[in-house]
Amino acid sequence: MKSSIAPFHQRESADVLIVPVWEGVSLGKTPGLERAARALAATGDFKGKLGETYFLYPEDAVEPRWLLVGLGKEEKVTAESLRRSYAAAAREVQGKQGKTANVLPARTKKLSHEEAFKASAEGLLLTNYAFTRLKADSVKENPSVLLEKIVFLDAKASDEALLSKLETIASGVHFVRDLVNSNADDKTAPVLAKMAKEFEREHPRIQTTILDKKKLEQEKMGLLLAVNRGSSHEPCLIISSYKGDPESKEHVVLVGKGMSYDTGGLNLKVGDGMLTMKCDMSGAATVLGTVKTAAALDLKVNVTAVAPIAENCIDAHSYKPGDVYHSHSGKTVEITNTDAEGRLILADAMSYAVEHLHPSCMIDVASLTGAIVIALGEEIAGLFAADDVLSKELMSASSAVGELLWAMPVHDDYRESMKSEIADLINSGSRDGSSIKAALFLQEFVKDVPWAHIDFAGTCYLSKPKHYYTTKASGFGVRLLIEFLEQKAGRTS
Ligand code: BES
Ligand code: MN
Ligand code: ZN
Repeated sequence: MKSSIAPFHQRESADVLIVPVWEGVSLGKTPGLERAARALAATGDFKGKLGETYFLYPEDAVEPRWLLVGLGKEEKVTAESLRRSYAAAAREVQGKQGKTANVLPARTKKLSHEEAFKASAEGLLLTNYAFTRLKADSVKENPSVLLEKIVFLDAKASDEALLSKLETIASGVHFVRDLVNSNADDKTAPVLAKMAKEFEREHPRIQTTILDKKKLEQEKMGLLLAVNRGSSHEPCLIISSYKGDPESKEHVVLVGKGMSYDTGGLNLKVGDGMLTMKCDMSGAATVLGTVKTAAALDLKVNVTAVAPIAENCIDAHSYKPGDVYHSHSGKTVEITNTDAEGRLILADAMSYAVEHLHPSCMIDVASLTGAIVIALGEEIAGLFAADDVLSKELMSASSAVGELLWAMPVHDDYRESMKSEIADLINSGSRDGSSIKAALFLQEFVKDVPWAHIDFAGTCYLSKPKHYYTTKASGFGVRLLIEFLEQKAGRTS
């Protein structure tokens, strides 16, 4: 996909012209739409409500069709409402097999020009995604419906650079979506390790180190090894570093849960509980996608993705409830539920990062608990941060990009319930407050590093497409973390 900017009067033909319309504002002022405006006002067929769309077929226009897209009431506009309006436009164009679009900007005094341009472009770019790799016949009959060219009309010269940045970020989001949508068998530890190693060829400042099973044993990463015991693939720890600011000592470490599949282990998941569990490596995909994108943007930051990859399966070697395993940190863990495996592999990865990578701050991202889905649903992820500065920075990044976080309590009193009679910790307490208890478990392994935990079990993989999320895998987290890193880069440079 290629996008660019052009003046309205010099535009080339395209399959469609996207025309944004505020609710309650007459179309009459838009040149060429006077007659349509009268007809629409008389029939009430299009009112400009948020996400409403309507095709017109004007005579003698550069484009064969114009798509009116409702922006809702101007006084209520937000970056997110614009993203959603332009997402609706993209879906309609795709529905007509449109490959090229000319796009008019949403003009409003409620947002800065840059905010409005950015949100509109994001809405289109994020919606321009499909996962068709696993389709065979139907794709041949019904070929790709993605836009190949988008031209933004009447933009500013400075929008050109912004647009290229937004395209890079959208590719990062699509990279994560592709990984998460893939079959579990196609993203095992060896496969992901090889993929992350390839990052080195994409950017001279990326270095990827893989700890294979033998190294994991030398490093005594007993929890990561335990979780993977029932799998026929070897586990690994991926460490992918981008050094965009070599002079600085600041080092952001992002740790992502990489469970290529989670059956629950011997505490096997029941009913439909397993159905979505190829999504359980979303955290790893997100942190790897973030490092890849940060490098592609040449951000002036040092950031490392640490991704423990394992598969939680059943066989005679599976790790067992009631047994005690040694973590990398030295703390021992009594397994009370093999389905609480994410915190185990994260614990080893984080304690390794704390010991070897000198993080100035550490953020882990994980599809960790079903309880966070119950609490916050599919649009909001839980933020657990004991560090106020980090928490504020993440909240600010969150509101800038519209990937929502809700601050959850890291309530110290519940720590008691994670103690074991025979080991230092149990891995799973009672169901009440279980997202908080998972966070408290992780905190045992971060020492004094400023740390935040994002539980995005609800937002990483959606039950159905929505707004600019066109498939189950949302890619949630990449835009958030890139914004967080950009804000950091902005402060230091
Ligand atoms: N991968 C799951 C969490 C999950 C649930 C992710 C729904 C995405 C959607 C995790 O490993 C898990 O099984 N958590 C258990 C923990 C429990 C045993 C303490 C859960 O939430 O039920
Ligand atoms: Mn599990
Ligand atoms: Zn899991």
